[in-house]
Amino acid sequence: MRYRVVFGMILAGLLGSAYAEDKTEALAITCNNCHGVDGVSVGPNMPSIGGLPESYLKNILLEWKAGTRYSATMGRLVKGYSDEQIAALAAYFSKKPWTPAAQTTDPKLVALGKKVTARCAGCHGETGNAGDGDTPNLNGQWAEYLELEALKYRDDAVAMPNKQMRKAAQKLSEEDVKAVAEFYASQKK
Ligand code: HEC
Ligand code: HEC
Repeated sequence: MRYRVVFGMILAGLLGSAYAEDKTEALAITCNNCHGVDGVSVGPNMPSIGGLPESYLKNILLEWKAGTRYSATMGRLVKGYSDEQIAALAAYFSKKPWTPAAQTTDPKLVALGKKVTARCAGCHGETGNAGDGDTPNLNGQWAEYLELEALKYRDDAVAMPNKQMRKAAQKLSEEDVKAVAEFYASQKK
């Protein structure tokens, strides 16, 4: 009798987690409409999200929900999700492989970007693949998107809560911004 109860509990637990995964998969279809299958975007100004760190994904989705982070689209969209759904989506997309996008980049700008990003390597790694489980991947992200983001961090009038990135970006000239975006976009690893 006791065993049957324990077995029942285990079965319910298994069914419970399987169902949650199904539900997350269903939610992710909406995201993939814009961000691509498994969060791999076909570009050029839509970011890939599959394989970004879970803590980063969760944090910025919650910032959008709270209205503390600027966005054109995401803020309105995430308001429709519970914190639990947001956490599940962050876990889901973080488990997908990070896939650098195939894109053409300008070799001159890439070379300049390589020099400028020496300053960024302490946090982002040499190629933008920090691998610390927190800092977002920049390697092979779409250049146009990276440029737009860097410009947002640079501008005090745009709500972007991360102060360290604000400081780092404000030291970049407009040409530097283009160059760092091209450099990271060109990195495959
Ligand atoms: C209608 C198109 C659209 C849909 C649907 C959409 N997004 Fe986005 N997403 C965007 C845009 C545009 C941006 C750039 C930020 C902004 O201005 O909104 C973005 C940015 C992001 C980023 C930032 C990526 C980075 O590198 O920092 C994440 C994470 C993200 N979206 C997750 C999601 C998730 C999770 C879903 C599903 C719940 C989703 N998005 C659905 C359009 C969309
Ligand atoms: C102190 C650590 C640190 C330094 C230095 C730093 N970054 Fe970042 N960077 C981060 C973190 C953390 C984030 C995510 C911030 C957030 O949550 O908004 C980020 C985000 C970014 C993004 C947006 C990525 C996305 O997917 O939206 C770009 C682009 C970027 N950094 C470029 C740079 C460049 C270029 C430099 C050097 C000039 C630099 N960073 C220096 C830590 C750093």
